[in-house]
Amino acid sequence: MSRTVVRGGLVVTAADEIHADVLVEDGRIAALAAHGTTTAESWAEGADRTIDATGKYVIPGGVDAHTHMDFPFGGTSSSDTFETGTRAAAWGGTTTIVDFAVQTRGRALREGLDAWHAKADAQCAVDYAFHMILSDVNEHALKELDLLVEEGVTSFKLFTAYPGVFYSDDGQILRAMQRSAANGGLVMMHAENGIAIDVLVEQALAEGRTDPRYHGEVRRELLEAEATHRTIQLARVAGAPLYVVHVSAEEAVAELAQARDKGLNVFGETCPQYLFLSTDNLAEPDFEGAKYVCSTPLRPREHQAALWRGLRTNDLQVVSTDHCPFCFKGQKELGRGDFSKIPNGLPGVEHRMDLLHQGVVDGHISRRHWIEIACATPARMFGLYPKKGTIAPGSDADLVIYDPAAEQVLSAATHHMNVDYSAYEGRTVTGRVETVLSRGETVIDERRYTGRAGHGQYTPRGTCQYLN
Ligand code: URP
Ligand code: ZN
Ligand code: ZN
Ligand code: ZN
Repeated sequence: MSRTVVRGGLVVTAADEIHADVLVEDGRIAALAAHGTTTAESWAEGADRTIDATGKYVIPGGVDAHTHMDFPFGGTSSSDTFETGTRAAAWGGTTTIVDFAVQTRGRALREGLDAWHAKADAQCAVDYAFHMILSDVNEHALKELDLLVEEGVTSFKLFTAYPGVFYSDDGQILRAMQRSAANGGLVMMHAENGIAIDVLVEQALAEGRTDPRYHGEVRRELLEAEATHRTIQLARVAGAPLYVVHVSAEEAVAELAQARDKGLNVFGETCPQYLFLSTDNLAEPDFEGAKYVCSTPLRPREHQAALWRGLRTNDLQVVSTDHCPFCFKGQKELGRGDFSKIPNGLPGVEHRMDLLHQGVVDGHISRRHWIEIACATPARMFGLYPKKGTIAPGSDADLVIYDPAAEQVLSAATHHMNVDYSAYEGRTVTGRVETVLSRGETVIDERRYTGRAGHGQYTPRGTCQYLN
């Protein structure tokens, strides 16, 4: 039996902040005891390893419920593999990712899921699970949803955006929701009116408005709000819970708030890019704006306050990264002269915990709420709790020793994601990951990578644990 003790830190979970020592045995949390007590002192004596966390926080490993490693999209593939992307996640204190397996149009879900297992198998530095993207909701696919839930793929992403690629019509969405109402699955919606957006894209290009900033202009806030409203009503008709991904517009938050005021099981996710970046970035000259092209798009700065407020009022429950990196050179550049050809997505898996901690420093959220939106609620939402998302006896020993006082400057020169730019280049944040344990094994040791590809295990999930 291997024993590690993390001593002297402030243990922060979604529920508590306590000065406690944490005993780790065989990859799991065995016990917590108040620091300095005879119990805690006796652990230190018999331990194989003692980690001094004095002056640091001891927090659960982050759970990033929205990543796209090695994701074919926009005529290319996202630049992080499962190996490089999960290593970057570890550097940033994220010890579980939930990535999206993709159904190819005209093919079975099973085939897509098998392909994603093959990409990730023996590659990951931290634990991983899968959602499934439905690109072709047909009778066979609907039947397969039941099997997916049984084997731990308990959430399905559908799109009202990207006609001809991932788009589903309202009837297909309703059927998938009805099926998930019956089998316990959770429908995740990319909510933007893609049919209307495509009209605006065509008109913009015809008028010579081809720069990256027009990506933000044609993907109107109202078209996010409309699709959010519509899919909420479809979920009500189906009697199904609904999780809206990457919410960026204040008007969409208002739709979620209204649904939640009615007591509906409707949930919302936002991402650090919407909390920290804006259309100012999309307007950067010399095609630099392409670095910030993602969907839903970045919004005018005023929307940031509405998103932080939504997090505080629990109208938004989860912050994920939607990590989907494309290099500026050779990938984002595909859209020079035509913003609609810029591959959509931003890198971010490495910096979610830090940027949200900056939200604590800036007074937007409390420390416990930081852990709630970054660890505990994503774990509950996607059936991983309390194995993941907390520090409690029996939980996996996924622990981060976090230095709340260290300053760091985010930069492509120092980050570990396989992408040639940082969306946060030059930004100083207060707080830094020092040491990371994944199931008791040290993967980051005082800012040195000690993990390995293949340590990360596939983690089948239960159904949503966040329903009313
Ligand atoms: O721009 C984005 N968000 N790219 C990833 C695909 C998606 O829609 O989540
Ligand atoms: Zn999406
Ligand atoms: Zn607005
Ligand atoms: Zn995504």
